[in-house]
Parts: sequence; structure tokens; C-alpha cells
Amino acid sequence: MITHTARAYDTDIRPVLWIDGPEPIVRMLDQRLLPTRTVWLDLDDPEAVARGITDMVVRGAPAIGISAAYGIALAMHQHARVSQDADAFDATLLRVCDRFAATRPTAVNLFWAIDRMRAAAASVAGRPIDERATRLIAEARTIHDEDIGYCRSMGDFGAALLPDEGGVITHCNAGALATGGYGTALGVLRSAFAGGKRLHVFVDETRPFLQGARLTAWECVTDGMAATLITDNMAGSLMQQGKIQAAVVGSDRIAANGDVANKIGTYAVAVLCRYHGIPFFVAAPTSTVDLACADGAAIPIEERTTREVSDIGGWAPDGAVVRVAPEGIAIHNPAFDVTPAALVTAIITERGVARPPFAQPLRQMVEAAERLRR
Ligand code: MRU
Repeated sequence: MITHTARAYDTDIRPVLWIDGPEPIVRMLDQRLLPTRTVWLDLDDPEAVARGITDMVVRGAPAIGISAAYGIALAMHQHARVSQDADAFDATLLRVCDRFAATRPTAVNLFWAIDRMRAAAASVAGRPIDERATRLIAEARTIHDEDIGYCRSMGDFGAALLPDEGGVITHCNAGALATGGYGTALGVLRSAFAGGKRLHVFVDETRPFLQGARLTAWECVTDGMAATLITDNMAGSLMQQGKIQAAVVGSDRIAANGDVANKIGTYAVAVLCRYHGIPFFVAAPTSTVDLACADGAAIPIEERTTREVSDIGGWAPDGAVVRVAPEGIAIHNPAFDVTPAALVTAIITERGVARPPFAQPLRQMVEAAERLRR
């Protein structure tokens, strides 16, 4: 049981917001500009929300799903203002959902959120169009609010697994910026700090997009979590020196057998952990578990532009770019890798902690979460 200290390691960072009003907008924190500039984009065009997901204005599996839900709600609100025709509403919903489903392929939370929006619209089929559009706004807000609650639950479950003191490594950004707020892996660390554990976070910089250096490091500094930034290739040496006692990462999609897709480089951390006898924890809500994927081989892995590898600085749309590789070299840039379930010590969800073999507990947790929503 964790005793919370008076100090909360949570400054309510929110990557995306619904701003209500006669002309609602989706407000996104432009993560491409962090940590040097804090710029919010006010988006009144659903297509701009979709592009914001593809272009990494917002990123991180749960945050992508929430943004898509808001984008769909925005599109259908705007549609309802010009047409009260039920067939036209259904046709637009189909088109908009397909558009958001095409933004990024790996994070299953995106497709999960789109399915929820479709189901919400279906639950008020036959009702006036205004009411259906309002129902979609409510559903998107619920998805967002629920996600923050899930992160806090994962925080409590996960913090109990961490040692009272020592080093914990994390990869990519699975923090408030990647979720509705609070974070999955970083949420576990927030809760552990709040519970009085004397931890030190080792933040992998996470080449090539530098989510660790730019985003996780920023969250640690903002919330006062003791942390050190390292390049990805320093992790093994730190483990060899006994400075890391646990790893905790997020996930974009967990297969039914417990194989975990997460940011490229996660697999290497898991292999290093196994070699050094360090527990490797994954924190993700049940919306990240895809029971339709039997194992990791079925998870689609996004390939991103080679410029992310050849250039430094390309993430900021208006930033200076330094080319670090010669023209003409072949470049490979998969955004994610798959860590086999055999390397995972435990999977922390909002419903509790799953231990290997993962198939049964994961199924039970997903089914229990679905039952709760019905
Ligand atoms: O390409 P990104 O930045 O969207 O990748 C994000 C990750 O890999 C995160 O670790 C994952 O989405 C979990 S976020 C709680």
C-alpha cells in the first residue's frame, strides 16, 4: 500500500483539450516544439486534427486515440449545423472515422477510440442529428477523462512494484504528453515519487525522434522528478554498473499473448534487462491490448520518413535541420519494435497487474473493462 506524500508530482500537463462553445475547437500542445517553446494550436478543422496526429503535434497511444475522438466529435458537430439528414450524418461519420483510422497504424488506442465513437453514434441512432452530435462530444470527453483515471490507477498498481530506492529506466515518452494526462510509465513513476520512493529516473533520449530528450526530460523537470538524460546506447553500461533497478515503459499495442509493441529501442532495453536480471515492466491501459492480434508478428509497425534518421532537428516544422548522414545512404526507420512476452516481467493496466503467462489475465482484464462500460 502506498502512502502518498503531500507532494504530487503532477502539474496537470494535458496534450489535447476540447474547448467548448458555439464554435468548439480542439486545442493541441505542439509537442514538436517542446521543450524550447510551449505553443498551443487551436484547431477548428477536423482535417487539421488528423494531420496533427500524423505529423506528431500530438503523439503517444492514448493521446492519439483521444485526439481522434475529439476530431470526430468536431467533424460531426460541424456537420450537424448544416444538415439534419440521418443518412448524410452516417455517411459523414463513416468517412471521418476512415480518415482518422489512416493517420497512424501502430497504436491500437486509435482504432479503439474510433470504435467507441462509432458505437456511441449507433447508440442514439434514430435520434435527432443535434442529439447524436452532442452524444459524440460527450463520448470523446468521457474517453479523455477515463484515460486520466486509468493512468492514476496504473500509477498506484505500478508504483507498488518498484523498489523503495534506486534507478528506473524509461524509454520514449509515456507520460502526461502521451495520454489524457498523468501518463502510463511516467505515471507509475509519478505515483512512486508521490508515495515517497527515492527513485532516480534514467531517461533514454529515444533516437530518432527524441521523445525522451525533448518530452520525458521536460516532464521530469517540470514536475521535479529526479532524472538523468542518457543516450540510448548508455543504458547497458549503467545496468552493468548496478545503477538501474527496474525498467518501466508504455506500449502502443499489446498482443493477446503479451508481446509488446512500443517505441523502437524498447526491445533492446528489455534484452539488456533480462541479461542483467532487472525487472522490465510495461504500463498500458486495457485499450492498448489488442486481443485480435494473436502475437506481436500481427502488429503493424509504422515506417516513418528517413529524414528523421538522416537529419537532426526535423521534428520542429520551422526549426533548423542539420544533416548527419551522407546523401545516397539507405536508411531504415521503423517507429516501433516488438518485445516478446518472455522478456516482460509484468503488464500494469488500470485493472491490475498481469503476470506471465499473460494470455488469460489480459483477456480477463479487457473483458472486465468492456463489461464496466456497457
Ligand atoms: O511515435 P510516438 O511518439 O507516438 O510513440 C509513443 C510511444 O512509443 C509510447 O511509448 C507509447 O505510445 C505509450 S504512451 C503512454
